[in-house]
Amino acid sequence: MQFLILILVLSLQNILAGQIEQQPSSTDSEGNCTNCTKCPPNDPKSNKAFVLKAYQEILGDHNFTNLEQYFHEDYIQHNPHAAEGREGLRAFVKSVPEGPQKIDFKRTVAEDDFVWVHVRMTSFNTSWAIVDIFRIECGKIKEHWDVLQDTKLQKKAANEHQFF
Ligand SMILES: *[C@@H]1O[C@H](CO)[C@@H](O)[C@H](O)[C@H]1NC(C)=O
Ligand SMILES: *[C@@H]1O[C@H](CO)[C@@H](O)[C@H](O)[C@H]1NC(C)=O
Ligand SMILES: *[C@@H]1O[C@H](CO)[C@@H](O)[C@H](O)[C@H]1NC(C)=O
Ligand SMILES: *[C@@H]1O[C@H](CO)[C@@H](O)[C@H](O)[C@H]1NC(C)=O
Repeated sequence: MQFLILILVLSLQNILAGQIEQQPSSTDSEGNCTNCTKCPPNDPKSNKAFVLKAYQEILGDHNFTNLEQYFHEDYIQHNPHAAEGREGLRAFVKSVPEGPQKIDFKRTVAEDDFVWVHVRMTSFNTSWAIVDIFRIECGKIKEHWDVLQDTKLQKKAANEHQFF
C-alpha cells in the first residue's frame, strides 16, 4: 500500500514537472510577447533632462558610476572614432587628453525618442561646436550620432555671428 502511494506520488511529481517544463512560453494565444521588456513611453521633457545629466557626468566629468544606467547595453555608436557599445564610449572618453570639463550646452531640442544638443567642448586640443543626436529607448540612450565643427577658423569669418 505504501509502495503504491509512493508510485502515485512519484507519477504525480513527474506529471507536474512535465507541465512546469512545458509552461514557459514567450507568446500568448494571439502571438503577443508575454515576457518582453515593457518600455515606458518616451517623454521628451524628461529625456532632455536625462540626456543633459548623462552628458555632463559621462562626457564632461568622466564619471562612469552611472554608465550602465544611462547607456543601453546594446548602445549603437555612429561616431567612427569610438568603438561600439558602452565600453567603447568609456574607452573613448578616457582617451580625451583634456580630462574632465564643464560642458557648455548652448541649446537642446527633444522630440519623440530623440534629443539633440548643440554644445561647445574641447577635446584633442580642439574647441568644437558639436551637435549630438541621441535616441532614447527604455529610459536609456540607445543610439548616438554627432556632427562636429572645429571652431578655429582657417580664414576670417564671412559674418559676425560666430558658431553659436
Ligand atoms: C521569454 O520566455 C522564453 C521562454 O521561457 C525565453 O526563451 C525567452 O528568452 C524570454 N524572453 C525574454 C525577453 O525574457
Ligand atoms: C495583442 O496585440 C494586438 C496588436 O498589438 C493587440 O491589439 C491585442 O490587444 C493584444 N492582445 C493582448 C491579449 O494583449
Ligand atoms: C559620480 O556620479 C554619481 C552618480 O550621479 C554621483 O553620485 C557621484 O557623486 C559622482 N562622483 C563624483 C566624484 O562627482
Ligand atoms: C594645442 O594647440 C595650441 C594652439 O592651437 C598649440 O600651440 C599647442 O602646441 C597644441 N598642443 C598640443 C598638445 O597639441
